[in-house]
Amino acid sequence: MTDTAIRPAADRPSAEPPTFRHFIAGEWCESTSRATFESRNPADTRDVIGRFQAGSPADVAMAVRAADAAAGLWRRTPAPKRGEILYRFGALMAGHKERLARAMTREMGKVLAEARGDVQEGIDIAFLMAGEGRRMFGDTVPSELPDKWAMSIRQPIGIAGIITPWNFPIAIPCWKMMPALVAGNTVVFKPSSDTPHCATLLVELMAEAGFPPGTVNLVTGAGADVGDAIIDNPDVSVISFTGSSATGKGIAARAGAKLKRLSLELGGKNAIVVMADADLDLATDGILWSAFGTTGQRCTAASRVIVERRAVEPLLDRLERRARGLRLGSGLEDTTDVGPLINKSALEKVAGYVGIGRGEGELVLGGEPARDGDLANGHFFSPTIFRDVAPMDRIAQEEIFGPVLSVIPVDDYPTAVTALNQTRYGLSSSIFTSDANTAFRAMRDFETGIVYVNAGTTGAETHLPFGGWKETGNGHREAGHAALDTFTEWKAIYVDFSGRLQRAQIDNQ
Ligand code: UN1
Repeated sequence: MTDTAIRPAADRPSAEPPTFRHFIAGEWCESTSRATFESRNPADTRDVIGRFQAGSPADVAMAVRAADAAAGLWRRTPAPKRGEILYRFGALMAGHKERLARAMTREMGKVLAEARGDVQEGIDIAFLMAGEGRRMFGDTVPSELPDKWAMSIRQPIGIAGIITPWNFPIAIPCWKMMPALVAGNTVVFKPSSDTPHCATLLVELMAEAGFPPGTVNLVTGAGADVGDAIIDNPDVSVISFTGSSATGKGIAARAGAKLKRLSLELGGKNAIVVMADADLDLATDGILWSAFGTTGQRCTAASRVIVERRAVEPLLDRLERRARGLRLGSGLEDTTDVGPLINKSALEKVAGYVGIGRGEGELVLGGEPARDGDLANGHFFSPTIFRDVAPMDRIAQEEIFGPVLSVIPVDDYPTAVTALNQTRYGLSSSIFTSDANTAFRAMRDFETGIVYVNAGTTGAETHLPFGGWKETGNGHREAGHAALDTFTEWKAIYVDFSGRLQRAQIDNQ
């Protein structure tokens, strides 16, 4: 890899923010559109991180051709060898963890400790999938006929279109690209236009790790120009998308018309149930971390707390006291607990829902954008708590994706389960209880892809399947070995060494 190829910034007059490029066929290149867009720090919008290529459908066509040209060699590279490149990439990320984490906090605002966790999640999935290069198990089973073998193997699908959000700008691209690549697919990657810098840094390291030219192609730009062109391209066989339910439904319609494999990871309205027998201090820790970590901008964030009526007052007392002490600011400062929202429209959306909430529950904390001092330069919103919210209120039903928590009182465990499941989403859930029987009932009853006992709703680990029920997704899972299902075709193989025609289901009766 030449020096220029791993350094995408072009025209770097001092004082001017750098301009970054696409990465296509192993080269850093400009868009045919000749247009760029900028990425700014959400904690201080005066800070411009850089300018990025406003990609065009022609750029996507070029990236797909590059991915296609690279596909033959890559799929024939032995999977353990592919895995070695993933391993090198994971080790490189580990070496650059602090630099990546700081760049992430600057570009999307989450506090540094969480940004480090995001990079760590990328490292973890790189190592897990590197190991898959030596596993990728299929079945070898006895045939029902004599002198015959039966087995199944996984094969790559072809070109994977990877469309990712800004809230986990390193982890989620890795969750998608690592299984795609180890399975022998090549990739066209379109990151969120809120975090193109994180994506560029990631792809620089991928190039350095030794992914051959064309196996990974980065095209930045708008969904309507780049995303749609990836989804519509007949040579892209599988799409993996994480983002809003509205966008996901649009993608499903487009991809469905072409019968493409599609993995969707969409909205959530995750709830924490607190039983009266719970350790309320522990529950408070879990709720605050789940509701206000990443400023509530996780798919797994908790936005509903369903509380047994007897525990409402002591829990609210703790929550209010602790949440009041949370410090807003730049995630780069050690003293900051809660960073900014991603952009102005997120701030407006959150403020809009708080307006709706005022007519539904009772506001006990926050409810306003935070504009004191330096905060006025960023998209900050105070941690917000509503009490006496009903399960079917809009703030308890719709994804807000911000630091807004609704406390919903219920009579007992059965009404808690009903409230928890009364949503069209189903990603994560949790219960705080000291009763083992209640805990096991929750594991059985909660209609979500992830259930936590005596912990918050966030913090999924990369070696178990990640994904949701109902409208959170379309049945696929990321992470764990389940991730391979998205990016491989099964092939069943029968080898008959009897030397005669043996008819299954007939000759052995
Ligand atoms: C997301 O918000 O889309 O479980 C991903 C968690 C993280 C991943 C969240 N490991 O909260």
